Amino acid sequence: MGILNPDKTDFDTEDLTFRPKLLSEFIGQKRVKDQLEIFLQSARMRKSVLEHVLLSGPPGLGKTTVANILANEIGKNFVNITGPSLKKAEDIISILISLNRGDVLFIDEIHGMSRIIEEILYPAMEDFKLPFTRTVGDKKEILNVKLKPFTLVGATTKDGSLTAPFRDRFGIHLEFDMYNKEDLVEVIRRTCSLLNIPITHEGVDAIAARSRGTPRIANRLIRRVRDVMVVRGSIEINKKIATIAFAMLEIDDLGLEDLDRKIIYHIHKYYKNGPVGVKAIAMNVGKDIRTIEDVYEPFLNHIGFLIRTPKGREVTPMALEHLQNLDNKFGVKYDVHIRKKEKKDKNDTIQDDQKTDMGNVRNDNIRNIALIDEEDMK
Ligand SMILES: Nc1ncnc2c1ncn2[C@@H]1O[C@H](COP(=O)(O)OP(=O)(O)OP(=O)(O)O)[C@@H](O)[C@H]1O
Ligand SMILES: [Mg+2]
Repeated sequence: MGILNPDKTDFDTEDLTFRPKLLSEFIGQKRVKDQLEIFLQSARMRKSVLEHVLLSGPPGLGKTTVANILANEIGKNFVNITGPSLKKAEDIISILISLNRGDVLFIDEIHGMSRIIEEILYPAMEDFKLPFTRTVGDKKEILNVKLKPFTLVGATTKDGSLTAPFRDRFGIHLEFDMYNKEDLVEVIRRTCSLLNIPITHEGVDAIAARSRGTPRIANRLIRRVRDVMVVRGSIEINKKIATIAFAMLEIDDLGLEDLDRKIIYHIHKYYKNGPVGVKAIAMNVGKDIRTIEDVYEPFLNHIGFLIRTPKGREVTPMALEHLQNLDNKFGVKYDVHIRKKEKKDKNDTIQDDQKTDMGNVRNDNIRNIALIDEEDMK
């Protein structure tokens, strides 16, 4: 699938050395960092174990990195597992028993854990104990195995799919936002300097603008642009090299790739701008639902191109204008109809604001009207 591949295992080994080790080296996410600094300091001063932490947000924003940083800052072991890999009760029990005081147990994709595992975690998180029942004669006895106090750090891209009792057992909830342009610029400079890749200001800007607010994507784009730099015999990543690379990858000025554009176009063309369920979108563009929801939608939603409603997904006039403006750039002509007379309506102020800074759009409250002329569609 290219640059947006959510699969983390395809990472170059280079990438592992990129992870910032301390909170002070972690770029952006000021809200998350400020809170963690306080909580860490308070735990240190009270000589207590840090409370359980839930990290949520779209892929590639630094949740695993922050979990690692917490263990480093605390100076204890980091035990890293993924929710879906925990199948049987024994899997989690043996891990819990092996933890030392203050250790960080990181469970990635915690929404993918089974109920059995979740229920074992309840008393483990709350009272640091594991209750076992055993039968003595005809009586049942409860035996509590004491655990050493530890910090559970859970990461999820689907905050909403955790059960309320489970979510409530995390004392600290931190939500990751997409990065703004300045922070991405810093991430790109840092990565290029770690990889010894010379890059001009314009090169940095070109990559930052197409990184979809996501450091993982920024780092991947750097590698792809570097490939072009090497093959073209250039001594640096500059505007020209970046332009060649992005044209080859069919990544547009906002960082959208072919599949993003397909999603928008399908909703426009076949569902009259929506609402349409994610299942239908996934089938139409040939991807699974999870990939659409986790990888493509968050950014389209973030820049105000796609809105999620209880009835399904809708595309906005901004998205349609974007397709129209591409004007056959990647060899695809999008047959987009936008009703002219509704272009200038009261929503324009919001849309104009959005356009001034695509990187910082918050479109939660924006309800777009469908601009497509239904007559045009017939
Ligand atoms: N603030 C940051 N500064 C520098 N690099 C970062 C930052 N955040 C993330 N990265 C880099 O981006 C990559 C992705 O980060 P990470 O694996 O922590 O994301 P994630 O939120 O755990 O993603 P997923 O939900 O897919 O597991 C890593 O290589 C990491 O080094
Ligand atoms: Mg992760």
